[in-house]
Amino acid sequence: MAKTQTRFVCQQCGRVSATYMGKCPQCGNFNSMVEEVIHEEPVGKKSAVRGLTGRSQPRPIAEVSGDAEDRVHLPIGEFARVLGGGIVPGSIILVGGDPGIGKSTLMLQMAMEMGKTQRVLYASGEESERQIKMRAARLAGNGQGSMPEPLFLVTETNLEVILNHVREVKPNLLIVDSIQTTYLSELDSSAGSVSQVRECASQLRELAKSSGITVFVIGHVTKEGNIAGPRVLEHIVDTVLYLEGDRFQAYRLLRSVKNRFGATSEVGVFEMREGGLIEVTNPSEAFLAERMVNAAGSAIAVTMEGTRPILVEIQGLTSPTQFGNARRTPNGVDFNRVLLITAVLTRRVGLKLGEQDIFVNVVGGIQIDEPAADLAVAAAIASSWRDVPVRADAVLIGEIGLAGELRMPGQMVPRLREAQKLGFKTAIVPKAIRKGEAYPQGIEVVEVRSVEQALQAALKVDK
Ligand SMILES: Nc1ncnc2c1ncn2[C@@H]1O[C@H](COP(=O)(O)OP(=O)(O)OP(=O)(O)O)[C@@H](O)[C@H]1O
Ligand SMILES: [Mg+2]
Ligand SMILES: [Zn+2]
Repeated sequence: MAKTQTRFVCQQCGRVSATYMGKCPQCGNFNSMVEEVIHEEPVGKKSAVRGLTGRSQPRPIAEVSGDAEDRVHLPIGEFARVLGGGIVPGSIILVGGDPGIGKSTLMLQMAMEMGKTQRVLYASGEESERQIKMRAARLAGNGQGSMPEPLFLVTETNLEVILNHVREVKPNLLIVDSIQTTYLSELDSSAGSVSQVRECASQLRELAKSSGITVFVIGHVTKEGNIAGPRVLEHIVDTVLYLEGDRFQAYRLLRSVKNRFGATSEVGVFEMREGGLIEVTNPSEAFLAERMVNAAGSAIAVTMEGTRPILVEIQGLTSPTQFGNARRTPNGVDFNRVLLITAVLTRRVGLKLGEQDIFVNVVGGIQIDEPAADLAVAAAIASSWRDVPVRADAVLIGEIGLAGELRMPGQMVPRLREAQKLGFKTAIVPKAIRKGEAYPQGIEVVEVRSVEQALQAALKVDK
C-alpha cells in the first residue's frame, strides 16, 4: 500500500512546506503549520487552470457590459453605502466579525429585505432552520411581519450539497453562514482549515462569476484579527466587510476593508436592538446623546469614517496611582497613541501625569484609528487632571507631534460642517500653513500651533 503523502500548510497565510516548521517563514506566525494529506491532483492548481468558468473567451472591452447601474438596490441604506451603492450581481462578499457581534443577524435582515424582490437562499452550517426562523420572526416584529416567499433556508455544511440546492432553488442571492463550517468532501482536511476555506471560497467565487449569483460569505475573525486564518480568502473575494463594535455596547460599525466596486473605509452604523440591527443615519447625534455637558474629562473629536465625518465623545480620567506603576488603559484608541499623548502632556505642557493612572474611553464602543483625534484625547486627559471642563460648544481636531506641535489632518471642511450642523460653535484646530478651501461660515475656527495653546483655548480657566 502506498504511503500516504502529507504536507504542512500554514493556517494563517497558506504557505506550504514539506516538513514541519515551528515558525512560518512567510508570515512569521508560530505553530501555524498543520499537516494535511496530499491529493493526486493538487486542488489549488486545478482551480487556477480552470479559471473563472472553464470556458473563457476574450471579448472586446466595449462589448463587455459593466455599468454602475447594474447594481441591485439594497433597501438597507447603511449597508448599501458600505457596498458602494448596492449589490453588484455576480460578486462575492465576505462579511467578517467577532463571534456574537451580529453577522448572522445582519445577513438574515438583508435576506428578508432582498427576499421581497429576489430569490434568496440562506445556507447555514451553524444554526437549524428553526433557529433561523425564530430569529426571522423576531426581526419581523414577532409574527407581525410576513415572511418573504422567495427566501429559502437550509442547514447544510457540505458545499457540494449547497451547490446542488443552488441549482434547484436558482437564487439571485446566496448566503453561506459560515465559510469555516463549510467543507468539500474531496478534501481530507477538516472544515475551517486553510485548504478547505480557500477551496470552498474559490468554488463559491466560480459560482458567482459564472452564474451572476451574488454570494455573501460569513467568516469568523480569529483573535489575531484576521478573517479565520486565511488572508488568502481576502484575495479570492471581491469585497471584505467587517462588522465590529463592543459586544457590551449597542453600536455596530460595518466597515469595508476591501472593495472592488466602491470606496474602501466606508462605514455603516447600526444599533443592535431586539428587532435586529437598526440603521443609525445620524451617528454623531447618537454618539453624543448621553453626553454630560460641562463635566471635566470629556472632549469632542471629529473623525472621518470613510467619506463621513463622525463626532464622538472622548472621555479621560486621571487618578493617583495606588500600587507602583502608573497604568494607561485606553478603550477605543490605540494604546501607543495614548502613551505618546501622555508623554507630550507631561513634557511639553507640564502636566504631572507620571504618578497618575490614565483611562481613555471612546463613548459608543467604536474604535478610532485616526490621529486627528489626538487633540481631543489630550484635552480629555488634561481636563480631568485639572478638573476643569472643556468648553461645551467646542470640538477639537488635530494630530499631535512629539514637540507638542499640532498637525493638520485632511478633510477639515467636512469635519467642520458636521460640527456646525450639530450645533457646535467653536472648533479648535491646527493653524493652516497653506490656505486651502475656505472654512464654512457659522462656526468659529480657533487656530492654534501647539497642544498648550489648544488647551488654553479649550479649557475654561477663569481669566
Ligand atoms: N432576543 C434578542 N434581543 C436582542 N438582541 C438579541 C436577541 N437575541 C440575540 N441578540 C443579539 O444578537 C447577537 C447575536 O447575533 P448573531 O447571532 O447574528 O451574531 P453572529 O455574529 O452571527 O454570531 P456567531 O459568531 O455566533 O455566529 C447577540 O450577541 C445579541 O446581542
Ligand atoms: Mg452567526
Ligand atoms: Zn504563514
